[in-house]
Amino acid sequence: MAYRNLEISNRGAVRTIVVNRPDKLNALNRDTLNELGLVFAQAAQDDAVRVVVLTGAGEKAFVAGADIAEMNGYTPVQAQGFSRAGQRLMTSIERLGKPVIARVQGFALGGGMELAMACHLRVASEKAKFGQPEINLGLIPGFGGTQRLLRLAGRGAALELCLTGAPINAQRAYELGIVTRVVAPEALDEAVNTLADQLAAAAPLAAAGILDAVLQGGETAIDQGLEFETQGFALAFSTGDMREGTTAFLEKRKPQFTGR
Ligand code: COA
Repeated sequence: MAYRNLEISNRGAVRTIVVNRPDKLNALNRDTLNELGLVFAQAAQDDAVRVVVLTGAGEKAFVAGADIAEMNGYTPVQAQGFSRAGQRLMTSIERLGKPVIARVQGFALGGGMELAMACHLRVASEKAKFGQPEINLGLIPGFGGTQRLLRLAGRGAALELCLTGAPINAQRAYELGIVTRVVAPEALDEAVNTLADQLAAAAPLAAAGILDAVLQGGETAIDQGLEFETQGFALAFSTGDMREGTTAFLEKRKPQFTGR
């Protein structure tokens, strides 16, 4: 299926989704949000996909935010719908059940930073810039930024970034725990591909259990979170992959995981 604002490709079990509106620095309009919702739903259902890489077209921007031109005419009710649609998309990415890597080569601002934060891992070029500049538009983040930034980097960083609206570079984002790896621009693709291949070879049901325990279990009180972990741990013993992983260790060979 062809998309107006996205490009999709596959490399083995790695699906790459490119937000493709480079003339608008890949800004997220309603149409792009809808298309992203569809492709992520497909990636969730397709067992052949083990890892998703999300990025933006061109060198300049990952995604420079929600589409300001489109928002300019919104009524409060339309804005509510837009925020809910954005939040639904971000939550669906976070709960995909398979690892999603954001490949951030340039601007990740506003909705772009929110999109990157909904991914599980963020690999950034040294040239990337992150920020929540909504306040400069008389707005507040609306795609989950206040909540995910708070959880990723703490209250101080969330308030500083959202209240000043000032962008930070990739190194600062790394220091704040927002980005998981920073590499030279020319090393970005190799770093993303190596990480994606590593995750694609991992046991998918174990990966799903880890995502669930950290993301959902982590939102509860510690006793419930620990119980969440125990249930996930026990469930792993129902999988062939767990037998294969432990047997391969004992037989001193590399495991072959099948996702069963
Ligand atoms: N929404 C809609 N269009 C956007 C956009 C956004 N969030 N970000 C960039 N664009 C468009 C610009 O309007 C411009 O379109 P035009 O050529 O039709 O005028 C095009 O993308 C290129 O952007 P431009 O501003 O000319 O590039 P720049 O290099 O001078 O500046 C930025 C780059 C990222 C600093 C600047 O585009 C910017 O501040 N964007 C908005 C960031 C933002 O506030 N995001 C949060 C939104 S909630």
